[in-house]
Amino acid sequence: MLCDRHHRVISYLRISVTERCNFRCVYCMPAAGIQLAPRAHLLTYEEIARVVQVGAKLGLSKIRLTGGEPTVRRDLPDLVAMLAAIDGINEITMTTNGVLLASLAQPLKAAGLRRVNISLDTLQPERAAALARRDYFDAVLRGIDAARDAGLTPLKLNAVVMRGVNDDELADLVSFAHSKGAQMRFIEYMPMGVARLNEQNKLMTAREMLERLKTHFDLTPEQDGDLADPARGWVCQRTGARVGFITSISEHFCDTCNRMRLTAEGGLRPCLHQDAEVDVRSILRSNGSDVAIEQAYRDAANLKWAGHHMNDVIPLYSAKEMVAIGG
Ligand code: 5AD
Ligand code: SF4
Repeated sequence: MLCDRHHRVISYLRISVTERCNFRCVYCMPAAGIQLAPRAHLLTYEEIARVVQVGAKLGLSKIRLTGGEPTVRRDLPDLVAMLAAIDGINEITMTTNGVLLASLAQPLKAAGLRRVNISLDTLQPERAAALARRDYFDAVLRGIDAARDAGLTPLKLNAVVMRGVNDDELADLVSFAHSKGAQMRFIEYMPMGVARLNEQNKLMTAREMLERLKTHFDLTPEQDGDLADPARGWVCQRTGARVGFITSISEHFCDTCNRMRLTAEGGLRPCLHQDAEVDVRSILRSNGSDVAIEQAYRDAANLKWAGHHMNDVIPLYSAKEMVAIGG
């Protein structure tokens, strides 16, 4: 078993397959993009599969593919199929902006992808274009339908809520998600990377979002929530609409964290917010043994913080942009 120093069992690996993205969301990336790692640094699909294979022996069972935008990496269904074939891996999911799902949802599902979380910050096309700095809103809507039709369900739609930007759309987003059979999830704005240089007062806490939503929906807490799922769930009794909140800022969910990350360049990263990485790429590329890879997992687990430090008097953030870590 893979256990950290705070008695948390690590069973969930979030894998960034690329740092590239076809969007430039204002809260995630600078307008000009980021300095990309040299292509040769990217783990190949075979290398990723090997890291997962060793992780599965240590008890990893859940994988989430992230980016950048994971769907911009070529032949992504091939990777999904390779990971799905690994003993012990029983759930593969993905976080995506949805733009390429119209064509990829079916092949990804056929390869073994279970479900997707799709980013949807607004229902207003001009606003969407301003937030993503790209005008692909219609494609995202088609992607949502394609994901549902392909059975990549239960579907979750994620919005980063920014005060004065999209906080007037909370109820609309919940209704829209419900109409698609999806759960709407609201993410507290994290002042990291570019977002940190922007206005910090854009944070709206989940408590405030919930208060606003309660004027539209009779929300009650979901009974059978997964403790390791950072999104606390609520259900509207009248309509059955479901909504979740990711309270990264207002309420730590670090105590029940079961995750670790693998960066596109092959770093095992204990936490989104912690700039510590254990280099697995060099082990892979120097004919390292499975035991050496196992040790890399243990080293990364040992480094894992008890919790993030975004709320400290002097807050501590990752120096990397969100897009380079994988949201
Ligand atoms: N605050 C909160 N969430 C963010 N994401 C990216 N940047 C931020 C931020 N500053 C999340 C978004 C996006 C995912 C890829 O990463 O939810 O959907
Ligand atoms: Fe791309 Fe997602 Fe970052 Fe937007 S939030 S720029 S879609 S990685």
